Amino acid sequence: MGNVFVLDHPLIQHKLTFIRDKNTGTKEFRELVDEVAMLMAFEITRDLPVKEVEIDTPVTSTSTKVLAGKKIGLVPILRAGLGMVDGVRKLIPAAKVGHVGLYRDPETLKPVEYYIKLPSDISERELIVIDPMLATGGSANDAIHSLKKRGAQHIRLMCLVAAPEGVEVIKKEHPDVDIYLAAMDEKLNEEGYIVPGLGDAGDRLFGTK
Ligand code: PRP
Ligand code: URA
Repeated sequence: MGNVFVLDHPLIQHKLTFIRDKNTGTKEFRELVDEVAMLMAFEITRDLPVKEVEIDTPVTSTSTKVLAGKKIGLVPILRAGLGMVDGVRKLIPAAKVGHVGLYRDPETLKPVEYYIKLPSDISERELIVIDPMLATGGSANDAIHSLKKRGAQHIRLMCLVAAPEGVEVIKKEHPDVDIYLAAMDEKLNEEGYIVPGLGDAGDRLFGTK
């Protein structure tokens, strides 16, 4: 079964409080999401394998470590996932980025895919699917199915805020996928919004309504 990690570092929790606050405007919201994404990336990559290499410092030769293993691919779910990509890339600048475009039909709450563009070697990469919101789980579930259909083998899911309903969907449909969250919230409301949540992530990031 996939693991669920709630990354409750004090800095993440502090910044998330201001992200949730309805009085936080678009500029500050975007900056905070970027910062939290970077902090989360630090935690998510904690288990990446390393290997020994020999280098010369100005003083002596020494054995030291560099990242080994699979290269990383980031896959934001459009639109709101875009708000977290730069934060992660600050720590993993060589990561390639694929995009999955999905929107949630407001009537049915079912995801509709409208765009997909991925690096050609996704089967060889450790992929991090990025979306601030895991609500019903429909969008992340579809995105992950889409990636697997195209050969992806190693996938992690990174979200700011999740509802238990969404987490259950991913655990059931994708038991091989570990989920990383900044917070696990209480529930979904009748409109499919996460409670207490942070509202509509895409609208708050991009200033739309
Ligand atoms: C939001 C969010 C997720 C999705 C989560 O996107 O960014 O992708 O809803 O909901 P779910 O778990 O119930 O599928 P939205 O559909 O609002 O599109 P947008 O990012 O383009 O605004
Ligand atoms: N999408 C959002 O942007 N917010 C929610 O609370 C649920 C889905």
